[in-house]
Amino acid sequence: MTKVVNKNISILLSEFIEVRKLTENLFKSLNAEDAVIQSDPFGSPPNWHISHVTWFFHQILRKYGKDISIDKINLNYLNSYYQKFEKILPKNERGKFPRPTISESLLYRETVDKNILTFLEEIDDLNPMLSEIIYDIQLGNQHEMQHQELMVYDFQNYFERFPDPYDNYKPFKIHGSSEFVSKGNIEEMISIPGGIYNLGFSGDAFSYDNELPEHKVYLYPYKIDATPVSNGDFMKFIDDGGYKNYKFWLSDGWDLVQEFKWEAPLYWSKRDGIWIKKDFFGLNPIQLEEPVINVSYYEADAYAKWARKRLPTEAEWEKAASWNEDSNRKSLYPWGDYPPTSENSNLLDSFLWKPSICGSYENGRSFYGCYQMIGDVWEWTCSEYSLYPGFKSKFSEYTDKWAINQKVLRGGSFATPKNQIRNSYRNYFKPHERILFAGFRCVK
Ligand SMILES: [Fe+2]
Repeated sequence: MTKVVNKNISILLSEFIEVRKLTENLFKSLNAEDAVIQSDPFGSPPNWHISHVTWFFHQILRKYGKDISIDKINLNYLNSYYQKFEKILPKNERGKFPRPTISESLLYRETVDKNILTFLEEIDDLNPMLSEIIYDIQLGNQHEMQHQELMVYDFQNYFERFPDPYDNYKPFKIHGSSEFVSKGNIEEMISIPGGIYNLGFSGDAFSYDNELPEHKVYLYPYKIDATPVSNGDFMKFIDDGGYKNYKFWLSDGWDLVQEFKWEAPLYWSKRDGIWIKKDFFGLNPIQLEEPVINVSYYEADAYAKWARKRLPTEAEWEKAASWNEDSNRKSLYPWGDYPPTSENSNLLDSFLWKPSICGSYENGRSFYGCYQMIGDVWEWTCSEYSLYPGFKSKFSEYTDKWAINQKVLRGGSFATPKNQIRNSYRNYFKPHERILFAGFRCVK
């Protein structure tokens, strides 16, 4: 075995080890019965998640001629949606095929881990495929981080159904409220000048292909909410008959309100006149000062219309998060270019397991003064998810084929791993989805 000398490879190796460990930590507190259930067609069984991300690394090994022999594992069960890898088990069938079994999944992980480590340790600096290999492993790490967050959505969705507040997901690590969770003295909306803005990622670090290429867009001057919309504000919309008045709703959204009798965000219910919810802390009243979460695009849009505002475009959101008028450049995060910490944002690695109240993280504000643009809750934008002009795919079927009928979300949530998110990161979901940890802020 050769010694790892390439700095990029050695960073990649430690990231790989860290990512794989965190997935196992998230998984290990589950009982077997809870690990194989698909709680909702939107989600997947946790056991499927941990095997599927392993399958993804397995495909990378295969691509570079390093296939491994895996007995008894039906790899077709683990292919999520890649036509190029042939047979696919439809997403809604995942809960009906609890294979590999949990112990087989863990063994599969161990085998693929060993092979990825050996593969990386043996790479020669002169390998002509070096940059492609580095991208693919980074993609594998990033893909696994995305599934870590999806697993947390599934935990919330699954355990919420049991009325016993203690029959709940038990995080391997949970920190009490951070000292940075405090309310600043906040103006309601912040003015952002218009003009030409360069939308998208720029820099040398990892980004997905859908953040590229950076390109010019024109923005009119606008005002943006300093914080995400709070539960307290959202309750005013509910109390004012927001869910009962078609005038606030897009047509498809109003159909959903009628059909599914929506009257509040997902997971809310009313007991003795008080809105409550079961989350990772049990059954508790809805906290007025926390950002509203688990709302669909339609609910966000209806609220904005009721408030005589609108949802931002992704360019308006990104400029408010990124642009620094003093240095005349964009930053990777609202606070600058250095990575997130639990002093400037609430991401998975803070292990708070809930959004922080609106106005937290004074250190995490953008140049213009916006709070919590990274972390806490994903923010719906009104932009359609389409590929930027000049887009070039770096891994087919990953980001490209989804550019239809989805809305862009920005900023990450309290369940997003810190190494995944940045200002230019584009998430996308169908407008009716409520299971992801999404909220929003408005503009006018
Ligand atoms: Fe996946």
